[in-house]
Amino acid sequence: MTQRPLAGNSKKSPYQPSLLRLLHGINALIVLFALITGFWVYNTFDGRLGKVPLPRVNDIIGIHGTFGKTFWLFTPLFILYSVAIGYRRLIQKDFLTKLAQVNTPIWWYTLQRIANTMMILASLFAVGTGLLMQESWLPSGELNHTAYLLHLAAWATLLGCLVLHLLMSVKVGGIPLLLSIVSFKYRAADSPRLWLQKLRDRRE
Ligand code: HEM
Ligand code: HEM
Repeated sequence: MTQRPLAGNSKKSPYQPSLLRLLHGINALIVLFALITGFWVYNTFDGRLGKVPLPRVNDIIGIHGTFGKTFWLFTPLFILYSVAIGYRRLIQKDFLTKLAQVNTPIWWYTLQRIANTMMILASLFAVGTGLLMQESWLPSGELNHTAYLLHLAAWATLLGCLVLHLLMSVKVGGIPLLLSIVSFKYRAADSPRLWLQKLRDRRE
């Protein structure tokens, strides 16, 4: 956990590396758009499990496909960062022993790291099933393809994991932790000019 005070700030506030914030921010935005436009597609052509009154958007499938494509092109960068550099925030090898220490701070951190890791897995599930989808199915009323049902399940899984990810982050770091990942301020020692050097040294 990188929860050192900001330079020149005596109050303890969480700080996230600038490169993490950039990659995480872009990744999260595309996921949110994919979730929304995906739901819109379901609402327009399916609606078996409930429907909300949304206006009809021509080519909503094309719009969703564009976010889907952008996501699978971009997310490898974010995942690479998380696994190679930000791995301290993901599930650790000794997580089972830590999980035995119920209700201690390390137990909560372990749950939060599991939730972070689940975000990556859930988004890969959505991408994998999305790539199996065909644009023509839903407009022609073909609503029972296994790939589509799995893609719907992936949507629910991703939304569930996102709620968990946010709740766990609030639990371990409160609202200041949530704000720290969307903040635009950075320390001199974490300037974007040093990104290349840091990537070479694999440090945050
Ligand atoms: C209810 C939710 C969803 C529905 C009904 C839905 C529907 C669809 C449809 C119809 C396609 C085919 C479009 C095409 O190939 O151009 C597609 C593709 C795709 N979807 Fe979804 N989707 C949903 C949620 C999501 C979510 C949450 C993601 C998260 C990243 C996602 C990622 C993708 C990807 C990566 C593709 C493949 C795009 C491509 O390369 O062509 N979808 N989806
Ligand atoms: C939409 C709002 C989101 C907020 C407010 C948010 C918040 C956060 C916060 C505060 C952290 C840092 C945790 C720490 O320092 O311990 C974090 C890390 C992380 N988030 Fe999110 N998140 C969001 C969306 C997402 C999405 C959509 C994904 C993935 C699809 C995601 C995946 C991750 C991962 C994998 C990490 C760990 C990164 C690392 O290993 O360096 N988050 N998030």
